[in-house]
Amino acid sequence: MSSHTNRPGDLFNHEDSNPSTHPDFDEVLQARLSRRGLLRGGVGVAGAAALGGCATSAGVSTPVDRLGFAPVAKSMADRVTVPAGYSARVLYALGDPLTAATPAFRNDGSDTDFANRAGDHHDGIEWFGLDAAGQASDTFASRGLLAMNHEATTDEKLSSFFLHADGGTATLPRPAAEIDKELMIHGISVVEVQTDGRQWAVKPGSAFNRRITTQSPAAIHGPARGSEHLVTRFSADGTQSRGTLNNCGTGRTPWGTLVSGEENWFGYFFRDARDDDTRKKDKQVQALNRYGRKAGAPSRHGWESGGDADTYARWNISAKGAGARDDYRNEMNTFGYIVELDPYDRNSVLRKRTALGRMGHENATFARPRAGEPVVAYMGDDARGEYIYKFVSAAPWDPADARPANRLAAGDKYLDKGTLYVARFKNDGSGEWLKLSMDNPVIAGSSYFEFKDEADVAVFTRLAADAVGATRMDRPEWAGVNPRNGEVYITLTNNSARTPSTTDAANPRAYTDLKAGKEQKGNVHGHIMRLAEATPAADTFRWDIYLFAAEADADRSSVNLSNLTDENDLSSPDGLVFSKATGICWIETDDGAYTDKTNCMLLAALPGQRGDGESRTLTHGSRQVTTHVGRTQTPATLKRFLVGPKGAEITGITETPDGRALFVNIQHAGENTKMADVRDPSKYESQWPASAGYGAGQRPRSATIVITKDDGGLIGT
Ligand code: FEO
Ligand code: CA
Ligand code: CA
Repeated sequence: MSSHTNRPGDLFNHEDSNPSTHPDFDEVLQARLSRRGLLRGGVGVAGAAALGGCATSAGVSTPVDRLGFAPVAKSMADRVTVPAGYSARVLYALGDPLTAATPAFRNDGSDTDFANRAGDHHDGIEWFGLDAAGQASDTFASRGLLAMNHEATTDEKLSSFFLHADGGTATLPRPAAEIDKELMIHGISVVEVQTDGRQWAVKPGSAFNRRITTQSPAAIHGPARGSEHLVTRFSADGTQSRGTLNNCGTGRTPWGTLVSGEENWFGYFFRDARDDDTRKKDKQVQALNRYGRKAGAPSRHGWESGGDADTYARWNISAKGAGARDDYRNEMNTFGYIVELDPYDRNSVLRKRTALGRMGHENATFARPRAGEPVVAYMGDDARGEYIYKFVSAAPWDPADARPANRLAAGDKYLDKGTLYVARFKNDGSGEWLKLSMDNPVIAGSSYFEFKDEADVAVFTRLAADAVGATRMDRPEWAGVNPRNGEVYITLTNNSARTPSTTDAANPRAYTDLKAGKEQKGNVHGHIMRLAEATPAADTFRWDIYLFAAEADADRSSVNLSNLTDENDLSSPDGLVFSKATGICWIETDDGAYTDKTNCMLLAALPGQRGDGESRTLTHGSRQVTTHVGRTQTPATLKRFLVGPKGAEITGITETPDGRALFVNIQHAGENTKMADVRDPSKYESQWPASAGYGAGQRPRSATIVITKDDGGLIGT
């Protein structure tokens, strides 16, 4: 989510709450077709399907050791720029119909029926292949499902103004009809896409197409299922909830489902000014404050003001009734989880995997599973000063589960029982995973917060991590696992609250940067942490900082520690995904600090390994902080691949298994437009993707683009 505007909505974002190596058949076929010059002439998917079906290789199919494109220059143009020899096309934008019966999107604020349209603010995205018979396939590369998050919406003064003809209502109470649209543009979508060999397109009437919204049924799984803290008027036994919210990063499980992180959900709830007293200052009050919901603070959209119906009432979490079954005091506790979806089954119900903890989840990324060993996922909690986590399953991996008969049952097996850990970084380049469980005496005997059982740890995870003394990080965003060597990369996007006196070896920079002549302080541009473990389930690790984001002309002894140049300088790394086809590490930015010089971007990297650099000592006044820096960068190891339109953040990224199509999400182009100008397109900050010839109207829309190489080759090589 955008971190950089001055909108009221930003009050709710990132608050400080924390004082094979063999090619598969499809690839072989496509290469063969490509050589014969047929692929681009329109060979159908049925032809490709006839030869498909070998097992997926883990690791990298076609590892590359050079980036074979010319770097894209920094740009403030209102368009998507990719290297020469590549094409980027808009594929799927806010409002696009998912059923054959849904009218085309007019894009003038008059559209309705968002339960059957693409949602807003496209974020994390994952590919789920299909063969010609419509069965799940890990190898076919010409037909598949894109499952993606619709994190939020472009707003000002409560209203998602591009959704409403006149910009909507900026004061309370808000009309139910406006809220009804806004409730539906959040969540997840699943959309079928295919290529005829020439061009990718969405299949609007596909029986796989699906929306999950704030209103969709969800089942609570894991240790918090049935907890007293999840009892609501909707679920007297605390086992069910509704919807998912502010879904940010994604992951793909080893058994072939989507996992999605609920990130800045707390801002959507309202709690009245007397609520601390009404709750008699119980431990819930401590938790509500720790999770960023102070009594009396306004909600992001005022959804609670739409009327008495449950649809609206559930957003008011004040203790109003005789007990938890009579009101929605616990509703906020039903958000903040990693949620799992089977994208291949449109009748399946979302499962909230509480064993992975409750926080501002960015994504969850899985280590390559090994037979007989636990399944491991890495996660970041995206807020200033929050932590890095890992989940280790109780069940050992059975390779037969890579293609299970029941995918969500496999999810139950691996994600409902296990151990959650939080990271503590030591100055010497080592680190520990600290156990968050009642069998850790520090948790069970905590005087900081009363943990009664594992459900309490699952619901109040940030407090458990506080109790064990985890390291406060510069806003942990995406985690990604390098398929070549298993090392874990975690983006730390930036931290305006980092000061020289609070720097440490793992968060060593606090500096002043100028943006259009104005000072910005803290860790303005962020960095990327790298962890190496003996095995994924280990309780210790070694770390270094793979990359320090910086502007090319910044001081190389204190800020630009990775020696970035005009070909690869960046600010605020956020999305980070390794290609399984090529091994390229794709890095996406959500930047508000360098936007005086360039729009947000996508870079391609060939990372080395932990310890390939040196130790560096930074001086902060009388303090010295020694940190561990990866090797310095050159355009041969890190290069800018794409620059987005104005006001946009580059969010999710995924690929076909053959690495020849890259799907990238472009979120909130034009977000700095003023609500008052909603009827005057000449004043929009951006008119993308209409300006790229996509769709009706001129209002900017979040969208998925597809990038192909004009010669049909591997992307980035
Ligand atoms: Fe939704 Fe942390 O970015
Ligand atoms: Ca600057
Ligand atoms: Ca993000």
